[in-house]
Amino acid sequence: MPTTVFINIKQLVNVRSRTRLLHGKEMAELPCTDNAYLIVEDGLITETGSMDAFRYQVSDFNDHINAAGCLVLPCWCDSHTHLVFPASREDEFVDKIRGAGYAEIAAKGGGILNSARKLAAMSEDALFIAAWKRLGEIAATGTGAVEIKSGYGLSVETELKMLRVIKRLKEKSSLSIKATFLGAHAYPLGYKDNHPAYIRLLVEEMLPVIAREKLADYIDVFCETGFFSPEETEQVCRAGRQAGLQPRLHVNQLNSIGGIETGIKTGAVSLDHLETLTAAEIELLSGAKALPTGETWQGVCTLLPTAAFFLRMPFQPARALLEAGCAVALASDYNPGSSPSGNMNFVVSLACIQMKMLPAEAINAATINGAYALELGDVLGSITAGKKANLILTKPVPSLAYLPYSFGSCLVDKVMISGSWL
Ligand code: NIG
Ligand code: FE
Repeated sequence: MPTTVFINIKQLVNVRSRTRLLHGKEMAELPCTDNAYLIVEDGLITETGSMDAFRYQVSDFNDHINAAGCLVLPCWCDSHTHLVFPASREDEFVDKIRGAGYAEIAAKGGGILNSARKLAAMSEDALFIAAWKRLGEIAATGTGAVEIKSGYGLSVETELKMLRVIKRLKEKSSLSIKATFLGAHAYPLGYKDNHPAYIRLLVEEMLPVIAREKLADYIDVFCETGFFSPEETEQVCRAGRQAGLQPRLHVNQLNSIGGIETGIKTGAVSLDHLETLTAAEIELLSGAKALPTGETWQGVCTLLPTAAFFLRMPFQPARALLEAGCAVALASDYNPGSSPSGNMNFVVSLACIQMKMLPAEAINAATINGAYALELGDVLGSITAGKKANLILTKPVPSLAYLPYSFGSCLVDKVMISGSWL
């Protein structure tokens, strides 16, 4: 495997000798090395330091990059996406601009069930090709690790089809990919009035095959009014756990109905969305307060600002979560209905602009905490000797804060995944 050296890096970002999940105030600390070098060997970061201490010849390496004026960051770790989907839904987008409400769109056959209908009609190969293209697009914008959910199938055959597509993406891509089973994304029309029967289908028909074929790493449920109740969510999570899948959940996007308590009870790795939060729920999320049953939570709060932006909803209360001491991650929620973009650069910008996260907090949330949200914190998410060389090389920029500030400009020059350029 070739060796690469980066020299004269204006600033090497998120340099840590040891790492762990960051909470609250810690998130404002982003250790950087100015005028730095970085060595990559066998796909891993092996050494970094200040150019003043550089004792090598560039000819000692197979490849050398003069990064003068540029920044080097760990790749984004996008811990919440739905990037396997059949087709875009811009017709709903236009209907919404014209004033259509959710009910009207649903009555026209829109929303999650619209995607499910199209997905049923699409071959596994066609679905794979479409998702492969999206994966290439997000990698080019700096994403090196990504979680991908099922949930546009909603039948045994189609949920398995989605998960097999994710498995093929995992096998073929050099990105780190985690798969999540989201059969509990919505009730299919045929089960609208018979929820127990759909839950039986999830638990008795889908989960055994998923466990046998190792098709998923996690289980997710859309816990929301009109979707899955906290009780139904708990039932699905417990069955998922028995099949070896830890929960990571969609909670409190529109309503506060008890999803957080369910996530804590079932030991969720991450609780995602969190647009709608009470003060008591923020305390629970920080781990400072226990449930009446005594359980506390140590997981990650994953915020999805582009979904709030696209749906014109209030943004997630990032400052209150940080002040309470929570561990915050940022993810794209890439999906055709509420966030048709997987560009993490924009996610980071929006977190700063609309949620008042400092650039340091947002970058930590999208790198090291995103990696821990995927349980990949030991190998990804920071510039640490021994971690994978998943690196973003920026174009020349005046400073680190310029990245979120100049929203919409593409400042990613090149992306390296496991030591190889994309
Ligand atoms: O995370 N909230 C539920 N699911 C997706 C949107 C699904 C869709 O509209 O396709 C989300 O926002
Ligand atoms: Fe989502």
